[in-house]
Amino acid sequence: MFDQVAAAPPDPILGLTAAFRADERPEKINLSVGVYQDETGKTPLLECVRQAEQRLAEAAGTKSYLPISGLADYTAAVAELALGGDHEAIAGKRIAAAQTPGGTGGLRVAADLIHAVLPDATIWLSEPTWPNHPNIFAAAGVPMKTYPYFDAAGDRLDIEGMLAAIGDMPSGDVLLLHGCCHNPTGVDPTPKQWRQIGDAAAAAGVLPLLDFAYQGFADGITEDAVGLRELCRPGAELLVCSSFSKNFSLYRERVGALMAIAPTAEAACAVQSQLNKVIRCNYSNPPAHGAEIVNTILRDAALRQQWEGEVATMRDRINGMRHALVDALAAAGVPGDYSFMTQQRGMFSFSGLTKDQVNRLKEEFAIYIVGSGRINVAGLTPSNVERVAECIGKVVG
Ligand SMILES: Cc1ncc(COP(=O)(O)O)c(C=O)c1O
Repeated sequence: MFDQVAAAPPDPILGLTAAFRADERPEKINLSVGVYQDETGKTPLLECVRQAEQRLAEAAGTKSYLPISGLADYTAAVAELALGGDHEAIAGKRIAAAQTPGGTGGLRVAADLIHAVLPDATIWLSEPTWPNHPNIFAAAGVPMKTYPYFDAAGDRLDIEGMLAAIGDMPSGDVLLLHGCCHNPTGVDPTPKQWRQIGDAAAAAGVLPLLDFAYQGFADGITEDAVGLRELCRPGAELLVCSSFSKNFSLYRERVGALMAIAPTAEAACAVQSQLNKVIRCNYSNPPAHGAEIVNTILRDAALRQQWEGEVATMRDRINGMRHALVDALAAAGVPGDYSFMTQQRGMFSFSGLTKDQVNRLKEEFAIYIVGSGRINVAGLTPSNVERVAECIGKVVG
């Protein structure tokens, strides 16, 4: 049987990392996959995580199964982190929630839920979006369409195009939004634009699904929830996929959550049962360790303060490297104005480099960037930024 199977194409982002690992040139630089690195090029184990793991090891709990929807303490802490502890949706018990294996697991459960309970819905993705979004919804059998998002000429959000598209969406469809740090463009709505998006979605009767993978990486942990809190109006319905891969640097622990915010507590109970049903026949129940770490940190005042400081350090380093890259491009005499990169938010910068230029950077200079021209700014360090700028100069010149 298997000798008839054709090879699948490599994943456009993770495939690049495999090629990077195999590259023997010592000067190689990986700016492709969305993983934070510190100024020495290492993906850190956060100190708050180290301390939480120590406590968990000493408490030596059981390894029995978690419930299908995961640790209830953890999902409650996630809701408070996302919405604020005093939010009306929490007090009104309007939230069905599940601990999921990473943000990707949360998105897949959301996709399965949509397929099960909203069989006529189409999901609308921003153009462009994270390349795994279409894979996930296709695998779950949810039809997809795209809406305009990025105005490449102006390096800004195409808010007019986006609002017009939302206005034309059929009622009952699902609108996928990035909570902050839009991947790949780094361009987010302003608070005023979030209000316009919320108004348009409510008027059209579409269900927002917020992919919230970078809370704390743009302006701050609370500040980055501005869009979510705008959309989560009294009685409003919403899906939210949180990931703690980046902001807790827990990538390989696979820790995330899905929240379905329903109009009433009764509706939330019914949605919870449907959520449990789709999880049961997928991975049955989630892995515990990552969620126990996040729960321990969020529920301890000292660890939480430590975490907030460590998120700020990561955020500040990324923003510092944005400025360093723009300065280095100017110093290397690269033609063009790259100052827009300092306005973009989160880990990524949409550089405007073409596929050919990206390819030359890889072939000639061992610098790995995603084909869309998306640079992982968190892969830049004080010791590689000048070389990156010079090589960009050689391929655009
Ligand atoms: C926009 C977006 N959503 C979701 C994820 C999923 O993150 P994970 O599954 O690693 O938690 C990522 C990771 O790169 C992302 O960029």
